Amino acid sequence: MQSSRVPPQLVRLILLVLLILGTYAIARVNLTPKTFGQYGHYRGAALDEAAARQLVFAGTKACNECHDETFAKLAKDRHKNVGCETCHGPSRAHARNPDVTTQKLTGEFCVRCHVADPARPAAQKQIKLHEHFPSDSCIGCHVAHQPNQSK
Ligand code: HEC
Ligand code: HEC
Ligand code: HEC
Ligand code: HEC
Repeated sequence: MQSSRVPPQLVRLILLVLLILGTYAIARVNLTPKTFGQYGHYRGAALDEAAARQLVFAGTKACNECHDETFAKLAKDRHKNVGCETCHGPSRAHARNPDVTTQKLTGEFCVRCHVADPARPAAQKQIKLHEHFPSDSCIGCHVAHQPNQSK
């Protein structure tokens, strides 16, 4: 006579599945951030957090208000597409109050964009650092705002 009992390995399997589902349900309730789903499939509080972050960039237009000569020089030369703050660093504090100085530049940052790298577009001229006057500072020879002129 055949027994109608559920085979024990199936019982174990069902218990295991229930355990996994249960753990998942408990974790979901306890680990989901409170504001998740408030507006959509993201954390509602993330909006306030993003809005509360301090702005550090002023934007090139803001620099133009007081440094229109530099702005005009830059616009005429090859660096016209490089924003002021790309080189000078975040300068919002300075733009609001010129007594706050911008960071001091030594020219070492030029290599960020100009050291030879085959992935770069050809229009962005590249140099081999060890061949291109390695013992001198870039801005000892190049005018940063007008890179096609020399000092
Ligand atoms: C409200 C006017 C004002 C705005 C806006 C402004 N600056 Fe200035 N900036 C000044 C003054 C004044 C000086 C000091 C005099 C000078 O060197 O021309 C100065 C000096 C500088 C210097 C030279 C600092 C040094 O150590 O010699 C840099 C670099 C500079 N500003 C960059 C910027 C950048 C980048 C921006 C845009 C984010 C900007 N400024 C926006 C007024 C301003
Ligand atoms: C390619 C990088 C680069 C860009 C882009 C750039 N600067 Fe400069 N800037 C420099 C460097 C480097 C110096 C220091 C120059 C030196 O000591 O010969 C400098 C110097 C300055 C100075 C000090 C006075 C002077 O003319 O030497 C001011 C003011 C200034 N920059 C403002 C600006 C403003 C405003 C913009 C955007 C319109 C801008 N810069 C864009 C690299 C840059
Ligand atoms: C954010 C990237 C960036 C930084 C930083 C930067 N450059 Fe450039 N530079 C460029 C680009 C892009 C061009 C080419 C623009 C174009 O014509 O398409 C260029 C062009 C030049 C050229 C002209 C090359 C030629 O003959 O065509 C020289 C020289 C130069 N840069 C030197 C410098 C020096 C010196 C510094 C540091 C003060 C510097 N660059 C910082 C992006 C940068
Ligand atoms: C001793 C002066 C001197 C120094 C220092 C110097 N350069 Fe130059 N640079 C030149 C001269 C001159 C040229 C034009 C002739 C040439 O291409 O060699 C030039 C050309 C360039 C070019 C255009 C290359 C091309 O293929 O047209 C770039 C980009 C450049 N330099 C970036 C830099 C950077 C970045 C530094 C700092 C790491 C630097 N230079 C240091 C003198 C100098």
